[in-house]
Amino acid sequence: MMANGETRSAKFPFGIAGAGLGEVERDVPSDEPPPLPPNAELTVIGRPIPRQNGREKVTGATRFTVDVSLPGMLHGRILRSPMPHAQIRAIDVSAAARHPGVSAILVVARPDDAAAAIVRYVGAPVAAVAAVSVSAAEEALRLIRVDYKPLPFVVDLDAAREPTAPPVYDAASAPRGYAAGFPAPRGLPLAGNVRGPAISKRGDAAQGLAQADIVVEGEYRTQVQTHCCLEPHAIVADWRADGLTVHMSTQFTAGVRHELAEEFGLPLSRVRVIVDGMGGGFGSKSSLGSYGRIAVAMSRQAKAPVRIIFDRQEEQMDAGNRPGTWQRLRIGARRDVSLTAISLVSYGTAGVGLGAGIGNVAEAMYACPNFEAAQHDVFINAGPGCAMRAPGAVPGAWAVEQAIDDLAGLLSIDPLALRDRIDPSPVRREERRRGAERIGWGRRHAPGADAGPVKRGLGMAQSLWGANVQTNAACEVRVMRDGSVEVLSSVQDIGTGTGTVLAQVVAEVLGLRPEAITVRIGDTEFPAGPPSYGSRATASITPPARTAAWHVLQALFREAAPVLDTAVETLVARGGRIEVRGKPSHGMSFADAAAHLRTDRVGAVAARSDDYGGFRRRMEDAALAHQDLGGVQFAEVAVDTETGIVRVERVVAVQDCGRPINPLQIESQVQGGVLMGLSYALFENRILDQHTGRMVNPDLEQYKLAGARETPTIDVIVLENYQANSATDAYGIAEPSNIATAPAIANAVFNAIGVRLRALPMTPASVLAALGKIPARS
Ligand code: MOS
Repeated sequence: MMANGETRSAKFPFGIAGAGLGEVERDVPSDEPPPLPPNAELTVIGRPIPRQNGREKVTGATRFTVDVSLPGMLHGRILRSPMPHAQIRAIDVSAAARHPGVSAILVVARPDDAAAAIVRYVGAPVAAVAAVSVSAAEEALRLIRVDYKPLPFVVDLDAAREPTAPPVYDAASAPRGYAAGFPAPRGLPLAGNVRGPAISKRGDAAQGLAQADIVVEGEYRTQVQTHCCLEPHAIVADWRADGLTVHMSTQFTAGVRHELAEEFGLPLSRVRVIVDGMGGGFGSKSSLGSYGRIAVAMSRQAKAPVRIIFDRQEEQMDAGNRPGTWQRLRIGARRDVSLTAISLVSYGTAGVGLGAGIGNVAEAMYACPNFEAAQHDVFINAGPGCAMRAPGAVPGAWAVEQAIDDLAGLLSIDPLALRDRIDPSPVRREERRRGAERIGWGRRHAPGADAGPVKRGLGMAQSLWGANVQTNAACEVRVMRDGSVEVLSSVQDIGTGTGTVLAQVVAEVLGLRPEAITVRIGDTEFPAGPPSYGSRATASITPPARTAAWHVLQALFREAAPVLDTAVETLVARGGRIEVRGKPSHGMSFADAAAHLRTDRVGAVAARSDDYGGFRRRMEDAALAHQDLGGVQFAEVAVDTETGIVRVERVVAVQDCGRPINPLQIESQVQGGVLMGLSYALFENRILDQHTGRMVNPDLEQYKLAGARETPTIDVIVLENYQANSATDAYGIAEPSNIATAPAIANAVFNAIGVRLRALPMTPASVLAALGKIPARS
């Protein structure tokens, strides 16, 4: 259904349930359903329903991309550079080509192409083969002879900033414009390995600092974190004369289809992308990637399907990562508890890529008239970073939220009370209140007050993230003559439960149980859905799902009304029946109503409209809207001052997401965000050998992730914050739930031991060094 531009006015719930929920009037497109009441008045939306494919997942029945096996399928493997920086002088693939199992060979780093002949990190693709088995492919890779001319390299952020550092790129070859941890606009200058600065400012930060009574200043470091998706990157490419079909573990089927069509010169109608089960993406599976191009090119060459599955080493070295950063942050304040200036300089590295910015937490979280940030990207000879769960905001909040706590200390004011004064968000205010009550903030003691070697502390920190929406997002709902219902979209479920929320929304409209809705997603044969990144899937796809279901229901009502001898306007759908409002006996079952359909199937397609309240800001892409989500987390830690071990005992996470569709799935995802944040805070660290450029911990044994033993009690409190913005008013929580954890833990560590740690991860050695018990490592 296309909006015809007509609107009608309607009253929506607005505000926080349990804290001043009110109403607001909005203009709504006339082809969209009437406002939903608050969750308390609904049957399926807002209920904690287990994810529909949960049983299949835990019993191993779910088909992931790694399970896809096509007749005649070949296995692709990629030869990767052992050198951090080299020119490929020659590649001899003749012996590999003679290997009996080999059907396709691709040279990626072609010596005859000046740009392609340079490899810039250990793990960079050099060549690839497709063979009858993985072992045959690996044998063939060993037969490829590569003549590398080693070039000087640098793999350390600080060293790469030196004017004498080996250049990773020259001016012509250096990338420009990528912006995962925005801002990273095009056209920024390049000096040596440093791209930038990207400047954002308001007011006069220097003047604001001069007017301050107190200035807190700190230098902060964050390490490189890898995505560590449980399911590796995987693709099965099947090139045929009549079109290309790709099975891929991807966060964006529709986007990958676009990339493939462009890359291989195919019409969109001849490209199909499919994903069924997915074991996480976190940003690293947002696009086609070089391995995707390699698989498709080899399938074309071999005239057979080709499957590529990364091993864990490839995952760690060349599947993206969260860039490392160095930041210097200064915040000026007056004794009357107001901010006068925030000034920030950052240098981050996404390896050979861009996007190492530190986001807009410093710029936008607190009320402050004067702000200035200068953000720089630094190239090093390491695998490219990419978007990872709240890119920019995670390292950004690490600095800001500790500095605000420092300021509270200097002002002798409670960190919550300080934030009540300088944080304009009524949502975070309520989140602070509820979280403080749950964790028992009143028992928080002065920093380092515990006697004895194990010291406990309480800390908190906050999130700021966009309530992102993609308007290029469509969905179809179909009802068959037997009353069965399908919801269809190319949107994928990357493990977050997207299919279940779609079933809930459609079931709510049609008065059915969510189990009665067949969910067909993750296939570009269906209406083009949104990506599962930027926490935008739920916000983008649930409103059109509700709108489409509402249109189908109107069609059913039109068939049922004459049979029931009533007017269409009197009918409601509830409890599996279509009946006259207020007269439950005057009606028929949903299936009986469907039996009256003129054709075997009725369907309706709807797309995401603009937010009813208007998009407050537009990002670069006009199809993306950007408002604000909050989130506040509290952590309780025990620090052993003899071993330096930090143990997080409890986390309370309070999170808003507009209208919560499924509190159980939200809770599960917020717990995942907290765990990922805890793991970042204490354990994870990509370590590169300065002498070889190799990652020394490219596995899941030496690259330490938080596990069951390190998992604290996590309490999740979900705020219902109605914003009257769409047919469901729902937003995502994947990213905001990952922002506040590390600084909340750091603030709790400070409260425990009275010493602040400004570098991640907070290892036992760094705790002992901060306590002056061992020398600090350079
Ligand atoms: Mo995300 S970093 O938008 O998957």
